[in-house]
Amino acid sequence: MTLIQARGLVKAYGRTPALHGIDLDLAEGEILAVTGPSGSGKSTLLHCLAGILAPDAGEVHYDGRRLDTASEATRSRLRRSDFGVLFQFGMLVSELTAAENVALPLLLTGAGREESRETALTWLARLGVADVADALPGQMSGGQAQRCATARALVTEPRVLFADEPTGALDTLAGEELLGLVASLARERRMSVVLVTHNPVVAGYADRELVLLNGSVDPTGLGSTLRGAL
Ligand SMILES: Nc1ncnc2c1ncn2[C@@H]1O[C@H](COP(=O)(O)OP(=O)(O)OP(=O)(O)O)[C@@H](O)[C@H]1O
Ligand SMILES: [Mg+2]
Repeated sequence: MTLIQARGLVKAYGRTPALHGIDLDLAEGEILAVTGPSGSGKSTLLHCLAGILAPDAGEVHYDGRRLDTASEATRSRLRRSDFGVLFQFGMLVSELTAAENVALPLLLTGAGREESRETALTWLARLGVADVADALPGQMSGGQAQRCATARALVTEPRVLFADEPTGALDTLAGEELLGLVASLARERRMSVVLVTHNPVVAGYADRELVLLNGSVDPTGLGSTLRGAL
């Protein structure tokens, strides 16, 4: 089943073109890697698909509903209930502990305090960082903080995870290990993932790789996995 369908996405920032007409289908449970050189439009595409940014032209459909023209209120409700987002720097709230950070998305969808904390602790344990539950972000290593941010992105059990260079701030091994864990959690839950990455090993966890070049899909499809092997 197709969960996200994008057709003819065009986006420019003033006179700087970013996307030139991208078509994309994301199936339920599919892990899609988006790769390509810096400035090729990867983040812009991800933001359009997640309903964070409105394209100048083209359409985005999520689960049969038009997303790009939906109201901000509708899009943000959908993001909270159905989407998880994870960025290069985890962006944890520095005044809150790990457990409080992870519980936050649940509280925002109306869950109770006790229940939210319990679920948050379960997800911290799944990500291997139960021991920092009561630590503040400033007291954690970069890897621990990113695992907490990952727990926060997954705690609502989203149908789609959008991740933009989620391990860019970690060393190679820590990053690959975390993405391997995310991929196996996604497979267990039939969660779809759109994963922007420069790392061919990380792209290797995906079912498919979409290569962008100057705001278009690279017609050669010569992804980083293949390029790395040449
Ligand atoms: N907020 C912005 N204002 C102006 N131009 C922007 C903005 N964001 C992106 N751009 C431009 O749009 C194009 C696509 O940028 P985008 O951030 O989508 O690329 P990217 O593939 O994610 O790059 P990177 O790998 O460096 O993160 C680039 O030319 C970039 O300079
Ligand atoms: Mg980017």
